[in-house]
Amino acid sequence: MKLAHSAAELGQLVRTAIAEGKRVAFVPTMGALHEGHLRLVDIAREHAEFVVVSIFVNPLQFGAGEDFDRYPRTLEADCDLLRARDCDAVFAPSASEVYPPDGRPGKPTERAGIIGSTFEGAARPGHFDGVLTVVGRLLQLVEPDVVIFGQKDAQQVFMVRKLIGAKYRDVELVVAPIVREPSGLAMSSRNRYLTPSQRETAVVVSKALRAVDFAAKHGLPASFCIEAGLTLFAGEPKAKLEYLAVVDPQLFKPVTDKFKGEALVIVAAEVGGVRLIDNQFIEIREQDA
Ligand code: PAJ
Repeated sequence: MKLAHSAAELGQLVRTAIAEGKRVAFVPTMGALHEGHLRLVDIAREHAEFVVVSIFVNPLQFGAGEDFDRYPRTLEADCDLLRARDCDAVFAPSASEVYPPDGRPGKPTERAGIIGSTFEGAARPGHFDGVLTVVGRLLQLVEPDVVIFGQKDAQQVFMVRKLIGAKYRDVELVVAPIVREPSGLAMSSRNRYLTPSQRETAVVVSKALRAVDFAAKHGLPASFCIEAGLTLFAGEPKAKLEYLAVVDPQLFKPVTDKFKGEALVIVAAEVGGVRLIDNQFIEIREQDA
């Protein structure tokens, strides 16, 4: 496995791979890797002979007062994990490689639009402009055939799909399923901030999703399904619910009770000062007679 800090070094590795007739898969990350990230690497390997993982904590997607400064930076441990996972190249650029000439991002060059200011975007203004800007930049630097994103960040997937459809049509987007702890808690780099008792509290997030799914399986309309999820949060006051919604996956907008078909339940909550997000697809059926 090769480690590239500059776009020039990476370009050389990628060009060599392409000359050998290899397809290139790319997994963008911010490091502090866990099994959720590593599964993306496995999936990347199923799609290509040359796998690149980027590790870059993107300042442009963090708001003032968010955890940019204390976001875990564990490059050496990350490289050990990736080496064991059959990754070909790690791209860990400096800020000035991504945002030339001096590493200051300045203004975002991509706009996430209206959906980019709802849900995660409402809680984190400018977040998706920053995500799309860095994803666009990384796609230009890596030039992969296929890029892998995790369903864990459902709204990010929605926004990136739009970006790729508009500007990077040659790149195939693969979405990987959410990897969870045995408790149901979705894996996240931020879970390491949770104490053992906060981890127990945090399980309410995935339990609420399952309650929504259970209600949907019983033929209840969307608003009743949401109520089922809210009941779980009512019983767990240490978890501060931010939103729990059922959205149309095609539009990322809340559905009405008339909606039937595949929907996406999205949730965000805070536990011990840590923001947790999760989601699950459900099927809303005709109401039982
Ligand atoms: P990061 O939070 O490091 O996540 C990198 C990728 O791993 C994302 O596609 C994310 O959805 C996926 N991922 C994280 N936890 C997962 C889990 N439990 N199961 C499945 N996939 C999971 O997302 C970002 O970084 C950044 O916004 C980035 C796209 C790199 C742009 O800076």
